[in-house]
Amino acid sequence: MSSFKGGPSLPQERKIVTEIPGPRSRELQERRKKAVAPGVGSTLPVYTVAAGGGVIVDVDGNSLIDFGSGIAVTNVGNAHPEVVRRVQEQVAAFTHTCFMVTPYEAYVSVCEKLNELTPGDHEKRTILVNSGAEAVENAVKIARYATRRPAVVVFDHGYHGRTLLTMTLTAKNMPYKEGFGPYAPEVYRMPMAYPFRSELDGPATAAQAIDLITTQIGAHNTAAILVEPILGEGGFIEPSPGFLPALDRFAKENGIVFIADEIQTGFGRTGQLFASEHEGIVPDLITTAKGIAGGLPLAAVTGRADLMDSVHGGGLGGTYGGNPIACQAALAVFEALEAEKVVERARRIGEIMLPRLRAMAERFPQIGDVRGRGAMTAIELVVPGTRTPDPGAAAALARACHERGLLVLTAGTYGNVLRFLPPLVIPEPLLLEGLDLLEEAFR
Ligand SMILES: Cc1ncc(COP(=O)(O)O)c(C=O)c1O
Repeated sequence: MSSFKGGPSLPQERKIVTEIPGPRSRELQERRKKAVAPGVGSTLPVYTVAAGGGVIVDVDGNSLIDFGSGIAVTNVGNAHPEVVRRVQEQVAAFTHTCFMVTPYEAYVSVCEKLNELTPGDHEKRTILVNSGAEAVENAVKIARYATRRPAVVVFDHGYHGRTLLTMTLTAKNMPYKEGFGPYAPEVYRMPMAYPFRSELDGPATAAQAIDLITTQIGAHNTAAILVEPILGEGGFIEPSPGFLPALDRFAKENGIVFIADEIQTGFGRTGQLFASEHEGIVPDLITTAKGIAGGLPLAAVTGRADLMDSVHGGGLGGTYGGNPIACQAALAVFEALEAEKVVERARRIGEIMLPRLRAMAERFPQIGDVRGRGAMTAIELVVPGTRTPDPGAAAALARACHERGLLVLTAGTYGNVLRFLPPLVIPEPLLLEGLDLLEEAFR
């Protein structure tokens, strides 16, 4: 085992001592090939021994700048001291009882806090589960149960997970759906107001979707409209203004449950606690995961008490849902969010990153679009002078960043988006160095 200690006490510096990936990582990668199914990929196969603040340290002693946060998970930083403390105390007290067998306080406390923090001051209830996909599955179950209607409306470029239902809800075929069908029934996909690629504005695209729902499904058959308020895997698409409010209004007028999937956008990432708040949306149900528990597997559905209370006893749950260790981690995250003004830090990250990215777009014609909110920003790469997606450029840039010790992720329906998700507690000098490295990668 390594002698590295993680968390924010790790030296907050980029240090490259081998090629990336280094020899020890390459050795582990060879071992992995014989043990792990290749269907599970890794963006950058450097094997981690410690992480914290804005860095990830690998088995070869390299310290990389983290612009990924384990895909928007470690918002308060990796191995946050309060997460570590609470987890250690909990693990020594008891590791599991199953909330459905004998309950415990931490589960209730997490639900209370989610009811309080999520948009809207109406009465709410929450259930806890293990993963984002499971949260989305449960939100759909609840919406169907409460409305007694079958249809679920989703959108182009949306991503909701990899289980049978959530992969059906997801738009992109490769790699998420290819060969895994047949898919679940009663899922209908509508156009998304994608500012960089749509001809129509937000209200006009919403009107088109509403017309399709009305004529092809029937509002009275529609249980839920499910949407990410800013699309994550689809390429950090912020729907054109007016799109979400129009759909929300239509849902409320027609007894359709409006579900905001805030699994990637949640917990301060976009400079508000929830991205729905940017357009004043109060979802009927909201799904959360990722940033909720500092890296421990926890997810939730929170929503209107009348909907949540409609389901019969025993209809929801699971063996590990709301595991006590994960709940303690979430309670630590909630404290850290407030105490360390993490949401404001996300806003500040956006204020630093967006002007720098826009300045790069002036100089590098491969950047077709710069977008984002707070610490959820992206550039979309195109063939210069056109809107033709250039996934090759995105892959080459990601590689060049990785070689320089900057971890970035790609995204987008066309694989041509570089997305940036630094931990919200990243020290400013590291953030600036990361931007310098990105610019160097372009050159
Ligand atoms: C918006 C959104 N929904 C659902 C999911 C699925 O979450 P999980 O991978 O925890 O199942 C993700 C994961 O990236 C996501 O970004």
